[in-house]
Amino acid sequence: MRRSRTFSFAIAAALCASAATQLRAADPFEERLQLCGACHGETGNSRMENTPSLAGQPALFLTNQLILMRERLRKSEVMAPFVKGLKDEEIIALSEHYAKATSEPSDEPVDPAVLSRGRELAQQLYCASCHLPGYEGREQMPRLAHQRIDYLMQSMQAYRDGTRSGIDTSMNGVMVGVSDPDIRALAHYLASRR
Ligand code: HEC
Ligand code: HEC
Repeated sequence: MRRSRTFSFAIAAALCASAATQLRAADPFEERLQLCGACHGETGNSRMENTPSLAGQPALFLTNQLILMRERLRKSEVMAPFVKGLKDEEIIALSEHYAKATSEPSDEPVDPAVLSRGRELAQQLYCASCHLPGYEGREQMPRLAHQRIDYLMQSMQAYRDGTRSGIDTSMNGVMVGVSDPDIRALAHYLASRR
């Protein structure tokens, strides 16, 4: 008797859960989030190589980047199909969603040997004056703390080499002449800020 009651509870719970999943999947916004989450992580914290975390990014930064990519002003082959035809309201809703998500540190190992060089460069180049001392970013300036190391390196190289620019070209100026080993030191230093 007891057993069968537990069993029917289990069935009821499973039915509710599947109804909830169906409801979620039927919502176009939730469907889109699932798509984004396949690469950027379900919680917006990426565990995929060279793919940025979005959790805890300032909403304005995310909105700007999505619009830049939609308009092909920031060229990204990977992102192109996912921004194509997105309406401004949809971009704002996605940005607000990820801005509210809690950022978590990346799971990549930090190289302790380059941290002091990274700290020195961050001071010399005034990174914190724009990205804030905790590197959480603000307005159009992205969060760097908790971002993936591989992605930080890739984006700094792209600014330096002129293959990434936005409306705000500050970063192209900041990265002029910064060597690959120094970019690596900066990325590991930033990843050590938890
Ligand atoms: C197939 C994997 C994939 C999917 C799906 C995907 N992205 Fe991306 N996204 C990437 C990669 C890789 C980059 C880095 C692109 C680059 O720098 O060229 C990126 C970059 C971004 C950036 C720039 C972030 C930064 O810090 O510069 C934003 C914002 C973004 N994606 C949002 C989204 C949203 C919102 C969705 C869903 C509508 C989505 N992405 C779907 C792989 C993906
Ligand atoms: C004058 C202000 C300013 C300074 C100084 C500055 N940044 Fe930035 N940074 C920005 C802005 C604005 C963006 C967004 C640019 C864009 O739209 O592509 C940005 C973007 C970035 C990105 C891209 C992250 C992502 O998720 O796409 C990285 C990495 C970065 N900065 C690292 C640094 C580092 C490291 C330093 C110091 C060496 C630094 N920044 C100094 C303003 C600044």
